Amino acid sequence: MDLSVSVGPLRLKNPVLTASGTFGYGLEFSRYGDLSKLGGIVVKGLSLKPRQGNPMPRIAETPCGMLNAIGIQNIGVEAFLKQKLPRLPHDRTAIIANLYACDEAEFGELAGVLAGEEGIAALEVNVSCPNVKSGGAAFGRDPSVVHRVTEEVKKRSGNTPVMIKLSPNVDDIALAARAAEEGGADAVSAINTLVGMAVDVRTRKPALANIVGGLSGPAIKPVALRCVYQIARAVSLPVVGLGGISSAEDALEFMLVGASAVQVGTANFIRPDFAFDLVDELEKLAGELGIESLDAYRGSLET
Ligand SMILES: Cc1cc2nc3c(=O)[nH]c(=O)nc-3n(C[C@H](O)[C@H](O)[C@H](O)COP(=O)(O)O)c2cc1C
Repeated sequence: MDLSVSVGPLRLKNPVLTASGTFGYGLEFSRYGDLSKLGGIVVKGLSLKPRQGNPMPRIAETPCGMLNAIGIQNIGVEAFLKQKLPRLPHDRTAIIANLYACDEAEFGELAGVLAGEEGIAALEVNVSCPNVKSGGAAFGRDPSVVHRVTEEVKKRSGNTPVMIKLSPNVDDIALAARAAEEGGADAVSAINTLVGMAVDVRTRKPALANIVGGLSGPAIKPVALRCVYQIARAVSLPVVGLGGISSAEDALEFMLVGASAVQVGTANFIRPDFAFDLVDELEKLAGELGIESLDAYRGSLET
């Protein structure tokens, strides 16, 4: 069966991508499988300058999910381009750069640095920077900011497709998706983590030094599915779905509600070879269910 799918102008050999921040720069996972088997790799969030991230502890486990407040620790865009990108199989799988900045101009600058690079198939824009001016709530909560960031990135990205990664921590995610569409995005991805916290009754301390963090994993899958469903009905942009995917059935659920492709996040920490296996498992399950084309199956939910 042909597993290839289109995400707007981006053609993927299969719909399995790995989610930013959960698969390093890709190279760290090469001992668990052949990176070129994946539809694509979304690398750790990149900022213009290297970042050390938040103080430890910054990861906590919860019964069916994980909390993190890494704070976009990364080596910076220049070091990524020099040290990591040349070692990735970018001619055989789509390498997608995830962009992190806290204002429109910086996002534009980052897009300008990355877009011209051979080996970068697309840009994914993370609009979840905490907005200091509005008390720490994510920047991407405001649809007008999503619109402006999208426009700014599109101005500098040439022919490189731009995907806007949306936060579920909003009243109406469809409004944010519409803002991305109006700003000229080529696709959206959903969802980023949900704000959560964990505390210890004995030490009376929060589990994370940052106190609150992003919840991911199986706990958020129903929220993510609902978001993808709402977005797919609200915009004509392709949607990449993620949030708690840990089986082929989960991946097909996202496609059934309208996703063109999926990303594997927290599951990479539990089974580092999962994303590679998912490609085969998806093919097997699609065959069992009589699905001939994933593009045709997409959005075929009957309500
Ligand atoms: C440890 C960790 C680090 C993350 N770092 C980033 C990041 O740098 N940029 C980004 O857009 N999302 C980041 N995310 C969010 C994931 O890409 C994904 O949206 C989220 O975890 C939901 O998917 P999942 O439930 O499959 O993990 C991170 C998530 C985790 C768990």
